[in-house]
Amino acid sequence: MTQKKPQNIEPTASAIDQAVSQPPSSEHTEQAKAQLAQTRPTNHLNGLKTMVEIDDLSFSYDMGKTNTLQNITLDIPEKQVTAFIGPSGCGKSTLIRCLNRMNDLVETSRITSGQIRIMDQNIHSKSVSPIELRKQVGMVFQKYNPFPKSIYDNVAYGPRIQGIKKKSLLDEAVEKSLRGAALWDEVKDRLKDSALGLSGGQQQRLCIARTIAVRPKVILMDEPCSALDPIATAKVEELILELRQDFTIVIVTHSMQQASRISDQTAFFYLGELIEYNTTEHIFTNPSIKQTEDYISGRFG
Ligand SMILES: Nc1ncnc2c1ncn2[C@@H]1O[C@H](COP(=O)(O)OP(=O)(O)OP(=O)(O)O)[C@@H](O)[C@H]1O
Ligand SMILES: [Mg+2]
Repeated sequence: MTQKKPQNIEPTASAIDQAVSQPPSSEHTEQAKAQLAQTRPTNHLNGLKTMVEIDDLSFSYDMGKTNTLQNITLDIPEKQVTAFIGPSGCGKSTLIRCLNRMNDLVETSRITSGQIRIMDQNIHSKSVSPIELRKQVGMVFQKYNPFPKSIYDNVAYGPRIQGIKKKSLLDEAVEKSLRGAALWDEVKDRLKDSALGLSGGQQQRLCIARTIAVRPKVILMDEPCSALDPIATAKVEELILELRQDFTIVIVTHSMQQASRISDQTAFFYLGELIEYNTTEHIFTNPSIKQTEDYISGRFG
């Protein structure tokens, strides 16, 4: 299927900037809310190929006694940036960690309803190993976490695990990934130095290079800029926009400005539920649900 971007998908920067600082004043009716609840929230993805399909997902950390995520239905399109926003504790990290089965590491966790399909494959089916899945669905964490190894060895780590031994192939993978993470020029003369000697922003880009070195399909980013200064943040944001050409990106962020600057779609969560999902432009300029409007305008959360 050819990918065609719906015309309304590109956020206009000025409209969004205005909306972020000044909430829209439109009335939101119960009828609009009911309409949204009835339809699978994918109408705005018209023409885009789905990469991740989340279907009626409920998730519990305590063997099903309480659900942290409640009946989430959400399609994430390929080669787009999808932002998850919502107040602290609403389940953004939990959901993102469901996508590469990181929550499996919590023994008492359970999917209590629904399923997740990535590239048309149910990620919980017996034939899917979590390790293989995590090669396809990479993750970049809030606190950059390079290994205490050289810059080169950090990036070569994944390819080596995949069985690449030949030096020329490893060199190529390292250079390509560091270029892809917009870090090559800054580190090309000190590849053998410890990764821990890099600045925070460089360490985060190194972690992104390490992630893309194994060529995943999806990159999950949980508040990747929250420990970075504005200059490093700008670099990572620029990088995310470039990576979108090759990867499907899901980013959790507390910064409304960041979501509006870099994402194509935005999903707003509250108390474990998906409240609203639409183009970023729609969410920030004309949200259909009052809770979304209150959140993006800073009235709660
Ligand atoms: N490993 C865990 N075991 C049990 N409960 C957990 C675990 N991780 C998170 N929770 C709970 O699940 C709920 C959702 O947490 P989650 O970390 O997904 O929220 P979040 O939206 O990412 O918040 P924040 O914006 O603060 O990062 C919270 O009530 C949290 O206490
Ligand atoms: Mg979180």
